[in-house]
Amino acid sequence: MTILYPVSDDSGQEPVRGRIRIQTGPVPQPIPRSADDRAALHELRAVVFDIRDLSVYYGEKRALTGTTFPIYRNLVTAVIGPSGCGKSTFIRTLNRMNDAIPGFRIEGQVLYNGHDVYDTGVNRVEVRRRIGMVFQKPNPFPKSIYDNVAWAPRNLGLRSGLAERVERALRSAALWDEVKDRLRDSALSLSGGQQQRLCIARAIAVEPDVLLLDEPASALDPVATASIEELMHTLKARYTIVIVTHNMQQAARVADRTAFFSLDRADQVGTLIEYADTETIFRSPRDTRTRAYVTGQFG
Ligand SMILES: Nc1ncnc2c1ncn2[C@@H]1O[C@H](COP(=O)(O)OP(=O)(O)O)[C@@H](O)[C@H]1O
Ligand SMILES: [Mg+2]
Repeated sequence: MTILYPVSDDSGQEPVRGRIRIQTGPVPQPIPRSADDRAALHELRAVVFDIRDLSVYYGEKRALTGTTFPIYRNLVTAVIGPSGCGKSTFIRTLNRMNDAIPGFRIEGQVLYNGHDVYDTGVNRVEVRRRIGMVFQKPNPFPKSIYDNVAWAPRNLGLRSGLAERVERALRSAALWDEVKDRLRDSALSLSGGQQQRLCIARAIAVEPDVLLLDEPASALDPVATASIEELMHTLKARYTIVIVTHNMQQAARVADRTAFFSLDRADQVGTLIEYADTETIFRSPRDTRTRAYVTGQFG
C-alpha cells in the first residue's frame, strides 16, 4: 500500500511531505506532535534494512555478534562506538562490501526491503547500485571530475542524458557551483572536502536508494566537515543514510537515530548495546555502557 504521509524529521520543525511505502501496520493518523507520537511515527516508517541476529566472522574471528535492529527510510542513522567494535564491519555487511575478504561469513539475516541481501542468486552489482558507499578517505579516480561521476552510469550502460545526470549528481552533492567551469580538470586537483563531495556525487549518480558512509569526514578539516554534515541533512529527503562516525558531536548533529556498538566485556566481540532516537542515546540512554561512552568515560 502506498500512501501520502507527512514525514517528520524529528527536528521539531514542520514536517515535509513525502511518499512512504508502508508494508504492514495500520494506516497512520494525523500529523503527530508529541514525543510519544514521534516515537510512534518511527514504528510506522518504512524499514529499509531489517537486521536480524547478525553475526559476522573473519575466519575464526567473530567481529560482530547478535545484532538486531531496523534502519528506517529517509532518516540518518549513525553507528557509533569505540575503535574495533565492528562499525565498519557492520556497514560493509549491508551492501556486501566484505564479500571479497577471505573467511568472511555472516550468520543471521540482513533484509533489504524485505529481501535477504545474502540470498544465493542476489545480484551483487545490483545490490551495490542500490546501496552506495563512501569511505573514510576520499578516493576519487585519477580521472576528470566529469568522468568520476559518469563512471558508474557508463558502466551500467546509462548513456542517454549522461551530462544531465552528472550535473544532477554534482548539484545534489553541493559541488556543482565549485566545479561547473572545470569539469575536465583532474579530480585530484580538488581539495579534500571537495573530493569527498565528489565521491558522494559519484555514489549518487546511479540514483541509489541508500548511502552508506564510513567516517566520511574524519580525514577532513572542520569547514569541510561542516559542509558534509549539512549535505546529510539535504540528502536524507531523497536517500536513506547510514553513517559511521567516531565523532559523537557529529552523530548528535546529523543523526535521527543512533546505534551504539561496543565490545562485549567477556569475549571482546563487537555487539549492539543500544539503539534509539539520537536524543535518547545522548540524553537519557538506558544502558550504563552507553552513558559511559557518550559522556566520554571510555572509547
Ligand atoms: N579483513 C579483516 N580480517 C580480519 N579481521 C578483521 C578484518 N577487518 C576487521 N577485522 C577485525 O574485526 C574487528 C572489527 O573491526 P572494524 O569493523 O574495522 O571496527 P571499527 O570500524 O568499529 O573500528 C576488529 O577486531 C578488527 O581487527
Ligand atoms: Mg572503522
